[in-house]
Amino acid sequence: MTVVLSTINMKGGVGKTTLTVNLATCLVRDHKKRVLIIDLDSQISATLSVISPQEFGRLRRGRRTISYLIDKVVRPYITRKFSTADMILSGVCALPGFDLLPGDIELYDEYTVTEALYKKSLEPMEGQKFSATWQGFEQDLITSIIEPIRGKYDYILMDCAPGYNLLTRSAIVASDFYLLPARPEPLSLVGIQLLEQRIDKLKTQYQPELALKLLGIVFIQSGSFLNNRYYNQVMQRIKQDFDPAQLFQTTIPLDVNVARAVDSFTPAVLNSPNSAGSKAFCKLTGELLEKLN
Ligand SMILES: Nc1ncnc2c1ncn2[C@@H]1O[C@H](COP(=O)(O)OP(=O)(O)O)[C@@H](O)[C@H]1O
Ligand SMILES: [Mg+2]
Repeated sequence: MTVVLSTINMKGGVGKTTLTVNLATCLVRDHKKRVLIIDLDSQISATLSVISPQEFGRLRRGRRTISYLIDKVVRPYITRKFSTADMILSGVCALPGFDLLPGDIELYDEYTVTEALYKKSLEPMEGQKFSATWQGFEQDLITSIIEPIRGKYDYILMDCAPGYNLLTRSAIVASDFYLLPARPEPLSLVGIQLLEQRIDKLKTQYQPELALKLLGIVFIQSGSFLNNRYYNQVMQRIKQDFDPAQLFQTTIPLDVNVARAVDSFTPAVLNSPNSAGSKAFCKLTGELLEKLN
């Protein structure tokens, strides 16, 4: 059984990508799982966390990124040679079983998407409202991209962009679970609640297909806040507001080794396995597997 997980937070810079790539690496290296990372952010941070910019440039010139697959869904009338499997890079970071579907700095063009869907909604066969055509597209986009390769993996991890764009919504619909990295700050908690409301709305829209669940909130802590009175008050509030099952016990410390790892295009758990940050990611991976069991 393949588990599809998305890492989501409408805020940027909260640690989504760092969490995705380190979890993925631990699942492959320590638990011998077959894992695919899909980069859905045009900032391509997940891609550049596991391959070099030179390698990314080569793939992009050959049109071997997720953009090709998105365009294939948007404009199905153009004949294409390649499938999802052709876009996947296998054995990244020299780890067999660790695969990447590279992201792109230009994922899709909003005008082209809207135009294609508008034309489709006018087709006699469709004969439906534009909103229904749009919803059908949103519902199928990511699902149709992962469907052909789904069975090859134990875990598919999708790294979403900040905000709440088309690809994030489509990834949510295609996922079994979502992970929510957050900083323990009051506004961050408001953000979590807003996101949950939006996901509930998506569920209502696409029921009964959508069985998506929050696997847990992962707190990325700032070391300087530890043992601080204000910080403790915030943590207290979190414990009141959320069901313990919604929170991961393991928190990730701010660790310069984690930030520095991107310079070598390898996640921290490979680059500096003994650092506090890396150890926390490994522990978190164990907790994630327990939660899934
Ligand atoms: N535990 C951590 N310790 C130190 N730096 C971190 C940690 N987690 C993330 N960072 C750094 O914070 C920045 C934002 O993280 P990132 O994972 O890219 O966030 P997001 O994907 O949510 O935008 C990056 O520079 C990253 O290296
Ligand atoms: Mg990111």
